[in-house]
Amino acid sequence: MTMMQRATGKYRPFPTIDLPGRQWPTRTITAAPRWLSTDLRDGNQAIVDPMDAMKKNRFFDLLVDIGVKEIEVGFPSAGSTEFNFISGLVRSGRIPDDVTVQVLTQSREDLIRTSFDSLDGAHSAIVHLYNAVSPAWRDIVFRMSREEVKDIAVAGAKVMRDEAARRPDTQWHFQYSPETFSTAELDFSLEVCEAVMDVLAPTAEHPIILNLPATVEAATPNIYADQIEFFIRNLPNRENAIISLHTHNDRGTGVAAAELGLMAGADRVEGCLFGNGERTGNCCLVTVALNLYTQGVDPGLDFSDIDRVIRTVEFCNQLPVDARHPYGGELVFTAFSGSHQDAIKKGFAARDTQNGALWRVPYLPIDPADLGRTYEAIIRVNSQSGKGGFAWVLEQDRGLKLPKKMQADFSRSVQKLADTLGRELTADDIWQAFCDTYFIRTSEKLVQLVDYEETRGSDGSAIFAGTVAVAGEQQRVSGRGNGLISSVVATMEAAFDISLEIIDYTEHALGSGREAKAAAYLECRAADGRTVWGCGIDENIATASIRAVLSAANSILAAVD
Ligand code: KIV
Ligand code: ZN
Repeated sequence: MTMMQRATGKYRPFPTIDLPGRQWPTRTITAAPRWLSTDLRDGNQAIVDPMDAMKKNRFFDLLVDIGVKEIEVGFPSAGSTEFNFISGLVRSGRIPDDVTVQVLTQSREDLIRTSFDSLDGAHSAIVHLYNAVSPAWRDIVFRMSREEVKDIAVAGAKVMRDEAARRPDTQWHFQYSPETFSTAELDFSLEVCEAVMDVLAPTAEHPIILNLPATVEAATPNIYADQIEFFIRNLPNRENAIISLHTHNDRGTGVAAAELGLMAGADRVEGCLFGNGERTGNCCLVTVALNLYTQGVDPGLDFSDIDRVIRTVEFCNQLPVDARHPYGGELVFTAFSGSHQDAIKKGFAARDTQNGALWRVPYLPIDPADLGRTYEAIIRVNSQSGKGGFAWVLEQDRGLKLPKKMQADFSRSVQKLADTLGRELTADDIWQAFCDTYFIRTSEKLVQLVDYEETRGSDGSAIFAGTVAVAGEQQRVSGRGNGLISSVVATMEAAFDISLEIIDYTEHALGSGREAKAAAYLECRAADGRTVWGCGIDENIATASIRAVLSAANSILAAVD
């Protein structure tokens, strides 16, 4: 049986929403929503080893640090560990005045009371009531009618109202979630939320938070946006409610659904850092926030040291952030393909000549430096890389600016090495290959400069006289030319019968100040017509150019050997 035959009659398309004149498709998001992190609740419920108090405190401090103002800290009625952490946090004084903690409770009188108890002493807090409303839960899990399910929500709201009234020292805020909203009938979700609002009597100054979860993501994100716009259009006294989004990622579109939900008019987004959470996770707050940032909208959250955030999240969740995770993953600012590397290099070079221009670096949707990442990590080299990558690495790592044609020459050595090793090349691998190819650290059997002096003949010609070591044996050599380089070329011809015709010569400083060195590059034609490259590096620019000639000579000698 084929997969499709097995699936026939088992699945169906998600029904579309009748929403004539829907507005969200042409809207853009121009301001950040209110953010609620549920890392310490929904996220914590989903990890193999739930966080202990030390980890929860660390995570809480991180969330405060990056600017999250609403933090769901747990499920107080779940057990004494949760309760003690929450009441300990409230009493610890580590909740800043502008941060509000939130706790989740099922709609049962004793559980709601326990939840209020856990928050005793808080200056402000959100109590979050929920019950599932969709037909599958009503029919299969609860075996209840719509009316009975609505009554559960209303009964819970009454207990919340009364408990809050008994505890006037805290500024209480109420949140209600019709859990499974995205798979429920919209008219029923509206009916339940209205009934809850009737009990809690929110106002525009003291609104209720209506959180509309895609508890299990079951449709494309446009359907969720339609559901949100439909809900907002049909909610009486909409101004008395904050519309909050809570998406999960079962279809891989939790972030997209939240973004379209914001376009549909929602005010708030609940989620977790790097998308931790039940099954495939919650909406990733980092991604939504940085998506806004790359559109020029201040997200109000600070990810300027994203690696620090990742370290803490990975430590607390004991789960790795995927290498491909948007913005944070280890590989997201790395290009292996040569054409990508080349385009990125050109993008950075173009930026160096501009001031304050729009970010337009090919293949990079965001400046890695904005997240505290360095450019060095961007280009990495493997067998797919071509010329751009290793040239960038040599420049970043060693300061060498290889002439274009020499890059083409050296690319053959890099390609060979990458194919042989069958793995990514490190900066050290590339440097070693460069030294080997151009005899930067000349091996003993080839010509190596020991010392030299340059004098002028009576006719103004340059005379090179020096000592070189060949296979460890020193010998005196000399030659004459109209400049230093040609005198060394003449020396090579006289001493070793090596013919070199100079085609091009370039040099540049390596570094600056007392530590500065010079790099010299030489393009030559050998007697057999072959192009041969040489490179010399030395504190002294004249010596660097001599070394470049010897480097080219060594290539010819090595080929003869
Ligand atoms: O996913 C969900 O529906 C929830 C609710 C409790 C808000 O986490
Ligand atoms: Zn959830």
